Amino acid sequence: MSEPRQILVTSALPYANGSIHLGHMLEYIQTDMWVRFQKLLGNQCIYVCADDAHGSAIMLRAEKEGITPEQLIANVQAEHSGDFADFLVDFDNFHSTHSEENRELSSLIYTRLRDAGHIATRSVTQYFDPEKGMFLADRFIKGTCPKCAAEDQYGDNCEKCGATYAPTELKNPKSAISGATPELRDSQHFFFKLPDFQAMLQQWTRSGTLQEAVSNKLAEWLDSGLQEWDISRDAPYFGFEIPDEPGKYFYVWLDAPIGYMASFKNLCARRPELDFDAFWKEDSTAELYHFIGKDIVNFHALFWPAMLEGSGLRKPTGINVHGYLTVNGAKMSKSRGTFIKARTYLDHLAPEYLRYYYASKLGRGVDDLDLNLDDFVQKVNSDLVGKVVNIASRCAGFIHKGNDGVLVAGDAAPELSEAFLNAAPSIAEAYEGRDFARAMREIMALADRANAWIADKAPWALAKQEGKQDEVQAICAQGINLFRHLVIFLKPVLPVLAADAEAFLNVAPLTWNDHLSRLENHKLNPFKALMSRIEPAKVEAMVAASKEDLAATQPAAPAGNGELAKDPLSAEIEFDTFAAVDLRVALIVKAEAVEGADKLLRLTLDIGDERRNVFSGIKSAYPDPAKLEGRLTMMVANLKPRKMRFGVSEGMVMAAGPGGEEIYLLSPDSGAKPGQRIK
Ligand code: MSP
Ligand code: ZN
Repeated sequence: MSEPRQILVTSALPYANGSIHLGHMLEYIQTDMWVRFQKLLGNQCIYVCADDAHGSAIMLRAEKEGITPEQLIANVQAEHSGDFADFLVDFDNFHSTHSEENRELSSLIYTRLRDAGHIATRSVTQYFDPEKGMFLADRFIKGTCPKCAAEDQYGDNCEKCGATYAPTELKNPKSAISGATPELRDSQHFFFKLPDFQAMLQQWTRSGTLQEAVSNKLAEWLDSGLQEWDISRDAPYFGFEIPDEPGKYFYVWLDAPIGYMASFKNLCARRPELDFDAFWKEDSTAELYHFIGKDIVNFHALFWPAMLEGSGLRKPTGINVHGYLTVNGAKMSKSRGTFIKARTYLDHLAPEYLRYYYASKLGRGVDDLDLNLDDFVQKVNSDLVGKVVNIASRCAGFIHKGNDGVLVAGDAAPELSEAFLNAAPSIAEAYEGRDFARAMREIMALADRANAWIADKAPWALAKQEGKQDEVQAICAQGINLFRHLVIFLKPVLPVLAADAEAFLNVAPLTWNDHLSRLENHKLNPFKALMSRIEPAKVEAMVAASKEDLAATQPAAPAGNGELAKDPLSAEIEFDTFAAVDLRVALIVKAEAVEGADKLLRLTLDIGDERRNVFSGIKSAYPDPAKLEGRLTMMVANLKPRKMRFGVSEGMVMAAGPGGEEIYLLSPDSGAKPGQRIK
C-alpha cells in the first residue's frame, strides 16, 4: 500500500452577516463528501473553514442591530456551526477570520509582500458620506442613472437600462446609509501589484490542476492584463489595521483566504501531530485544495496564489470550482419559497436526503445544479429507500427468524460478489475526481443488480417450502453482504445511514478497504428501519415556511393603497391566518410628501435585512413628514406589493384612529429593533 497522503481541504468562508441557505450547502456538502472519502481511505485529511467576519456590511448591520460587530459575528458563528453540524458537515475546525491567528498571519504576509516590493500606494478619489464620516463603497451610493434618468439606482450600474458607469457619474448621488449627499475626497490606498505575478499565474493556471472551463476563463483575464488590486480601506472599518498605517484597514478579501491558514493554525494548537509549517512552507509535499463557487474564482486562482508566492509560501494543489444552485429550474426566490435556509430545510427534512441528491447531480464541471423538488422526492425514495435499504429489510427478517440472526458462511452469488469488488476502483476514482454523480450511478447500478438477484431467488417464496431453509439463509446472507458493500461505498455521502447500518451489522466503523472482506458466521443485531421515505407534504411545508409572501387568506383589505383600512375586521379568523401575517418593527428612514397625491406619504422603511418603499395615507395627520424620520413603527411586511400611480407600495404601516388629523401611527416600546417580528 502507498503512504497515506496529507491533505488540507477548505470550503469558502461564509460571510458572517447572513444565514446559510441551500446554495451554500451545495459547497459544504460537496467538500464534506470528498473529505469523508479521503478519511475512509485512511488518508490524513484535514477540513477547515471559518466565518468571514470582516467588512463594512458586517459593521453596518451590527450598528443597525445596536450590537457590536463582535457580538454579531459570535451570534452568526453559533448559527452557522449549528447548521453545518446538523447537515453532517464535519469540519476539523470552524474558526473566524476575526481571530488572533489571522491577524498575525495577515500581518506576516502583508509585510513580506511589502518588503519584497509588491505593495504600491497612491491616492484615490472616492465618495465620502459627511454625516456618517465614512467612504462609501459603490453599493452604498444611490442616484439617478446618467443614461436613462431612472431614479434610485445603486453604485455603478442601472437596473433599469443596464448601463454601467462610475459612481461619480450618477446624478444627484445620495448615501444609501444616511441619505446625505456625498462629497468627493482623496485618500491614500494600498495596492497589491498583481502584474508582478503575471508569468507565474500564466503558468500555474495552466498546470493541469484547474478545471478546463476555469483555466479558460482565467486565460481571458490574464490575456487582457492584470490590474493592481486595492487592498486597503479607510476607517471606520471592521477588520485588521494595516501594520504601520494607522487608520488604514485590510480590505476583507485580503485577510479572508488567509483565514484558511488561520483556522488550520488554530487547529494545530489542539492537535500536536499537525505541523503548520509542513503544510504551508514553499516546498510542502502536503496537498491543498480549496472548494469554491464560480463567483469567487479570481480571488482564489489569481490573487491568492500570487499572495502566497510573493510571501514565500506554497500554492494550492487545486481549486475545485462548482456552479450555482437553482431550485425548480430558476434562481432561488423568496416569493416562490425556493430561497430555502439550511435551518428551514432541517426543520422539515433529514440532511442525508439532500446530501444524496446533491451527490447524484454533482459532476466535475462548473455547471449550475438544479434542485428540482419533485425529482428530489422521487430520486431519494426510489434509490435510497427503494433500492439500498430495501435489500437489508428484505433479508434481515429471515436471518433472525431462521438462524438466530447469524449470517451463514459461503458465497451464494460469486459473479455478483465479483462485480461489486471490481466496481470499487472505479467508484473510488469517481469520488477522487469529484464526479459524485458517476459514483452514485455506479453504486445504484450495483444495487439494482443485487435487488434483481434477490427478486429472482425469492427467499420469501422458498421460506414457505419444506427443506429450503439452507438456501434461504445462503441467499439472505449474501444479500446482507451486498448491502454492507453498498453502505461502504455510500458512507462519504450518508454517514448516519452508515452508522445505523454498522449498528445493525454489529461491526466496527467501516473503512473503504472493508469492501475486500465479507461477513460470515457473524451475528447481526435486530433490524430497525434505516431510512424512511420523503413525504411530499414535508417538502411543501418547507416551501411554505420559506415563503416570505405567504398568500393572504383574507380578501385584500385596501392593501397599501394609501388609505387606512376602513372596515375593522369583525369576523373571527383562524390562528393560521393571523400567523401568516408578517408583522415587523420598521424604522422610518425617510418620509416625504408625494407630488400629486394630497393624502399620501412615501415612506422608506428599514426592516432589518432590507428596505421597503411604502405609500401611506397618513399625510393629514403628519403634515411635516420629516418629523417621522428616525422613529419606529410597525408594518405588515408580507402584503402583496401593489402598483400605484406613484410607484410600487411594498407593505403597509399600522395606524389607528378615525382619520384626518386623528391618525396615530403605532410604535413599539423603545429598545425594539428594526426587522424584529411581532409575535
Ligand atoms: N466570504 C466569501 C468567501 C471568502 S473565501 C476566502 C463568500 N461568502 S458567501 O457566503 O457569499 O459564499 C460562500 C460560498 O458559497 C462561495 O463559494 C459561494 O460561491 C457559495 N455559494 C453562495 N451561494 C451559492 C449558490 N446559490 N449556489 C452554489 N454556491 C453558492 O463568497
Ligand atoms: Zn439607466
